[in-house]
Amino acid sequence: MKTLLVIATAAAISLTGAALAEGDAAEGEKIFKKCRSCHTISNGDEVIFKGGKTGPNLYAVIGRVAGSADFKFSKSMIAAGEGGLIWTEELIAEFVANPSAFLKTTMDDSKAKSKMPLKLKKGGADVAAYLASVSPEIGPAWESLPPLAGGSRQEHPVVALAGEIYVLAGFNGVPQIVVTVEAYDPVANTWRTNVASINDGVMDVPMHHANVAVAGGKIYIVGFLTGNLFAPDGRVFEYDPGLNTWTQKTSMPAGTERGGSQVAAIGNIIYVAGGLRGGTVTDFSSYDTVGDTWDTTLPNLPAPLDHGAAGVVGGTFYVLGGRADGITGLSAAVYAFDPAAATPMWLQKTDMPTARGGVAGAVLNGLIYVMGGEGNPAGGTGGVFDDNEVYDPANDAWSVLAPMADPRHGMGAAALVDRIYVPGGGDQQAFGAVDRFDAYVP
Ligand code: HEC
Repeated sequence: MKTLLVIATAAAISLTGAALAEGDAAEGEKIFKKCRSCHTISNGDEVIFKGGKTGPNLYAVIGRVAGSADFKFSKSMIAAGEGGLIWTEELIAEFVANPSAFLKTTMDDSKAKSKMPLKLKKGGADVAAYLASVSPEIGPAWESLPPLAGGSRQEHPVVALAGEIYVLAGFNGVPQIVVTVEAYDPVANTWRTNVASINDGVMDVPMHHANVAVAGGKIYIVGFLTGNLFAPDGRVFEYDPGLNTWTQKTSMPAGTERGGSQVAAIGNIIYVAGGLRGGTVTDFSSYDTVGDTWDTTLPNLPAPLDHGAAGVVGGTFYVLGGRADGITGLSAAVYAFDPAAATPMWLQKTDMPTARGGVAGAVLNGLIYVMGGEGNPAGGTGGVFDDNEVYDPANDAWSVLAPMADPRHGMGAAALVDRIYVPGGGDQQAFGAVDRFDAYVP
């Protein structure tokens, strides 16, 4: 597979800066009449420009991975997307002038051929400006928030509960294992410290890489790692914010203990996919928070993964990115599991544009955001990824968003109301916890 590094980098830069104001969107709207026989522009039911279906829907095409929308693309277009081609205004202007020639040059492949027959002689920049004007606004959209009141932190889960963002345990910058829980109130823009100790007699285990989810208004810790040797521990604890107490529940069955897993809840059931138990595992199990029971009969993850993202959209559990057996074993794969399917099984979906582990993930308005990560081989990055990419499960498509202003890895993220909160994380590969806190506003 060819990696189009030059293009991917150029795209990232033009997404963060202001869009080049070369094209005239009003002029482009007139030119779009030449495109409408094949292309529609619609955001779900909202039709912005009614057109044909011989070509893909061009809504939100800026920032989208080429050939990734719900459409039967040519082999060349799919290969270009897999190689890292992300649409910017400039690239669309070039593409529409001569689609096949564009793919030949970009892919450095004389056999590359596009299914789009039209060659637009002039007005490419205008039509691209029009497409940008009817697409959702793309960053820069990171805002800085008050630093973590409990100090620097990494390998800590983050959840939203009752209008607050909770940060649980993890490592500080020393690195030592932290036994506190803090909560951030976005309305007051303040932190509450020592919300609940992980040293209260019931929950007396210093932990990191904890598997955490919220169900029924309570926080559940379902397995974690302890000590500097990352020993797996299968104990389960429930936090009731009303009583401010932890209760110990039924542990993960012997032999399935793990931390650093991909975790999310569907109703009262918490799904725990993969994780670390010595090495990376494929175990997939679920915890019923009402029955206080474990189900270990679920089909294993198709590949071993830890340090990835997980999220639930429309009753389906998704695992995105992550890694296997160390920082460099990066994965871009997306796996989906629908427990309500006639025969529940894992399905593989469109890869994430940038393979990453140590990522933060969160779900907002039916989209799954995957931010940051570690194991970046590019120089000058300290091994940390600044990438911010969003998966749309309804269309099985990825878009690239404004990169993290402050790149980090090894943190959780949680969505509340209209933004995604990303507290702490490491700003260099391996250990390097910081107390920085920011939010992404889509
Ligand atoms: C005769 C049909 C037809 C016309 C007219 C047409 N296109 Fe296309 N377009 C396609 C097809 C088919 C594809 C998919 C190409 C492939 O798979 O190689 C495509 C792909 C694209 C893509 C890439 C989309 C993606 O998600 O990767 C863009 C952008 C695009 N067209 C823009 C335009 C614009 C702008 C115009 C008008 C100036 C236009 N097209 C006119 C058929 C058409």
